[in-house]
Amino acid sequence: MNTYAQHVAIIMDGNGRWAKQRLMPRTVGHARGAANVRHIVKAANAMGLRYLTLFAFSSENWLRPPDEVSALMGLFLQYLESEVAEMKAVGIRLRVIGDRSAFAPMLQSRIDQAEQETAENTGLNLTIAANYGGQWDVLTAMRAWQAAHPDRSLQDLDAQALSLHLSTADLPDPELLIRTGGESRISNFLLWQTAYTELYFTDLHWPDFDTAALGKALTWYAQRVRRFGRTDEQVLNASAVSHVPTPDLGIKKDVKIG
Ligand code: FPP
Repeated sequence: MNTYAQHVAIIMDGNGRWAKQRLMPRTVGHARGAANVRHIVKAANAMGLRYLTLFAFSSENWLRPPDEVSALMGLFLQYLESEVAEMKAVGIRLRVIGDRSAFAPMLQSRIDQAEQETAENTGLNLTIAANYGGQWDVLTAMRAWQAAHPDRSLQDLDAQALSLHLSTADLPDPELLIRTGGESRISNFLLWQTAYTELYFTDLHWPDFDTAALGKALTWYAQRVRRFGRTDEQVLNASAVSHVPTPDLGIKKDVKIG
C-alpha cells in the first residue's frame, strides 16, 4: 500500500462534451473547465499535495478551430491575471512548461511575471503545461544536452542526464496521472516522466471533476502496489525488510530497472 501521492498530473479532458450535453458552445465548456482549475488547485493546496501538473494546451491543440484556440488563450491569460494574487496569499508556486515562444507577447510576459511573483512560495507547486508535448520535451532535452556537451557523443547520454534537461527537471515524476473525460490515452503528455506512474481514468468530464473525485483518485492510488519492474514478492519483502531499498524514481536518478 502506498502513502499519499506527492505529485499528481491531470489531463483535463471532456470540456467540449460537457458543453455539448448541455447544448452549449464548446467554449462555455472550457470556461467551466477554467473555473474548475481554480477550484481543484485550491483544494489540492489545502489538502497538502506537493505537486500538481495540469495539461492545459497541447502542441496539437493549435489544430482546433481558431475561435476555440483564442478562447483557450484568453482563459489562460485571465487565469494568470485573476489568480496570482491569491497564489501569493496561499503560498502556491506556479511554473509553466511548454514552448511559450508561440504565445502572444502579452501572455508570455504574464507567464514570466506569474512565475517570478510566486517563485519563493513553498506550498503547492502548480505546473501548467501549455503548448506542451511529451515528444517535444524529450527532443528539446536531447538537443539541450548536446548543446551543453558539444564534445561528447550521444552514447554518453543516460536517463539521469536527459531528465536534468527536461522541462520538469525541478519536479519529481508524478506518482499518479488522472485523465478525465472517459478516454484512456496519454495524448503526448508527460511521456518520459510517467514511465512508472499509476494511471487513473474517470468518465467524469473535467468541469464535473470535484474535490470528492480528486479524493477518490488519491484513495485509489494509495491502494496500488507499485512494483517498478519487480515481482509482488520482492515488493512485499522490500517493505518488510528495511535494508532492501525501494527505488526512488525521482528525476535525478539514472533509472535502469524493469
Ligand atoms: C480538453 O477538453 C481540454 C482542453 C484541450 C483544454 C483544457 C483547458 C482548460 C481546462 C481551461 C483553461 C486552462 C487554464 C489553466 C485556466 P476537450 O475540449 O478536448 O473536450 P472534449 O474531448 O469533450 O471535446
